[in-house]
Amino acid sequence: MRLSGRTVLITGGATGIGLGLAEAFVKGGSTVIICGRRAQRLEEAKAKLPALHTRVCDVADADQRRDLIRWVTSEFPDFDVLVNNAGIQREVDLWAEGDWEARRQEITINLDAPIHLSTLAIPHLLQRPQAAIINVSSGLGFTPMARMPIYCATKAALHSFTMSLRRQLRGTSVEVIEVIPPMVDTELDQGARERRGQTYRGVSVEEFIAGILPGLERGDAEVAYGTAERGRQASRAEIDEIFERMNAGPVR
Ligand SMILES: NC(=O)c1ccc[n+]([C@@H]2O[C@H](COP(=O)([O-])OP(=O)(O)OC[C@H]3O[C@@H](n4cnc5c(N)ncnc54)[C@H](OP(=O)(O)O)[C@@H]3O)[C@@H](O)[C@H]2O)c1
Repeated sequence: MRLSGRTVLITGGATGIGLGLAEAFVKGGSTVIICGRRAQRLEEAKAKLPALHTRVCDVADADQRRDLIRWVTSEFPDFDVLVNNAGIQREVDLWAEGDWEARRQEITINLDAPIHLSTLAIPHLLQRPQAAIINVSSGLGFTPMARMPIYCATKAALHSFTMSLRRQLRGTSVEVIEVIPPMVDTELDQGARERRGQTYRGVSVEEFIAGILPGLERGDAEVAYGTAERGRQASRAEIDEIFERMNAGPVR
């Protein structure tokens, strides 16, 4: 896909991978709108990249999703790329009943939101000569980490949804791309990582973005990097082997 001259909405674009993608699109000469829940993080991102447009939005809330797409399509009629990037990750002990409303948040943010935002954006995107929906899934959607069972399930579901979305939009102006990160050093699982005393932090955002840009520019339907690329290509037997290795330690 072309990174220049686009008008891009990135959910969760104030930090981590979303901000890295925002920077790549801004550098390419695109107009970029980012959204997130924390106004302060949006302001910090804008201080770093003054060309950004920002909007406070909680994508867990269906009404706020509707408002977001209404606002973007009226303020930025050239809007032609939706990046469903916002996500959260939790460790969940399935032996404990837990607070279901709190647990459901992961499904709402990681899966409901990209499905709903895609369907809200499609009528507008179909009017554009070239458009794209980019869904950010995870290598953990291919081989789950058992201590994050809901997160991994949402990402596996997002992979499946992205395949169906691509099929339904085949032959239209809307490309559908899945970006599949490996472990990247962001705030995503910072709390859990610190609790476990885990020192490996994954690849840097800069390395990850540099690693996926060629695939995006080439027009690949699925763009992965590092261990996520190996996981994406793995056979069923290899998935079982990777799963056992990844989950050798305590899982709850
Ligand atoms: N880092 C990794 O190792 C890794 C690996 C595979 C996949 N991914 C995926 O990459 C994506 C980006 O994550 P990241 O690693 O860059 O972590 P991050 O820095 O924590 O970014 C997540 C972003 O999503 C936003 N967000 C979360 N809930 C939201 C909500 N309800 N409404 C609007 N925005 C929301 C956050 O902002 P607010 O809190 O201000 O809302 C934050 O800016 C996620 O989908 C994640 O699952 C990450």
